[in-house]
Amino acid sequence: MTFPVTRMRRLRRTEPMRSLVRETRLHPGALVYPLFVCPGEGLRREIGSMPGVFNLSIDEVLKEAEACAALGIGGLLLFGLPEEKDEQATGAWVDDGIVQTALRELKKKSNLDSLLMMADVCLCEYTTHGHCGVVTRGCGHESQYEIENDASVALLAKTATSLAKAGADIVAPSDMMDGRVAAIRKAFDEAKLEQTPVLSYASKFASAFYGPFREAADSAPQFGDRRSYQMDGANLREAMREIELDLAEGADMVLMKPAMPYLDVIREARERFDVPMGAYQVSGEYSMLCAAFERGWLERERAMMESLIGIRRAGADFIVTYFAKDAAKMLG
Ligand code: PBG
Repeated sequence: MTFPVTRMRRLRRTEPMRSLVRETRLHPGALVYPLFVCPGEGLRREIGSMPGVFNLSIDEVLKEAEACAALGIGGLLLFGLPEEKDEQATGAWVDDGIVQTALRELKKKSNLDSLLMMADVCLCEYTTHGHCGVVTRGCGHESQYEIENDASVALLAKTATSLAKAGADIVAPSDMMDGRVAAIRKAFDEAKLEQTPVLSYASKFASAFYGPFREAADSAPQFGDRRSYQMDGANLREAMREIELDLAEGADMVLMKPAMPYLDVIREARERFDVPMGAYQVSGEYSMLCAAFERGWLERERAMMESLIGIRRAGADFIVTYFAKDAAKMLG
């Protein structure tokens, strides 16, 4: 039936009508808020390139967590800025590491029970060179270096285990080393952590959009780049292989990032895999929207919600986003 029998505008005339036929919805429980934990007390240090995002000392993290729980947000994703860095990323896996300590404090508070505590598992914030794995250098030129896959995997499994023991409800490896999900699963099962799920950043591209995060987490590589472990942005089929392998290794859920420049990857993954999937609206996506808001070039609330609904429509079940609090307030 075509016009005039069919008139598409009939169902768009009023908000109740639009609400009735809305295909995709957002809810606070499907939003995850990233936090950057740093040493100290009473510290809230704003990130230059990420207005409204802070490095927070543990006491401030607790306050922020309470606000998130009150808003009905689904979970937190914790990143750490250690007191000291070294070549073995010691700060990532020691029992009294910054994120481990924060997790123990967070887990003491019963008013935070509704919030899932997710811990990012990576070495880049903890290594002096800023790479996500163990580096060996050749003699001579700086370009002669290797990110050692298997040595890195051993440290990542150790890191994940110590985070889960400290109380992480979910661990999220973001390093892109091969075989790390299997190693984490094995280490967990041996440590009686068989109930702790792994949310694997299975599809993670080497992206310019992580720039502001590296300021927030002080994790920029000191030489070279991450292209020998993160994926080439041109490759969709490779992303599907990464997801397939991580699921075969025992990942419970997968995370895809960045989101907006890779919505087709999210859609394709949604169609192929029947597992829960998240997408990470990364720092650069947040920063560029904020920059446009500050200039008055985009309407803040509408553009924020549109960016999030687009990610949901592409197929993500949940979204990690620096807008989580603002969006939850609007949805509340
Ligand atoms: C750690 C990690 C990064 C992000 C999440 N985990 C940075 C990177 O890979 O360089 C980026 C998140 C963001 O940009 O918001 N490897």
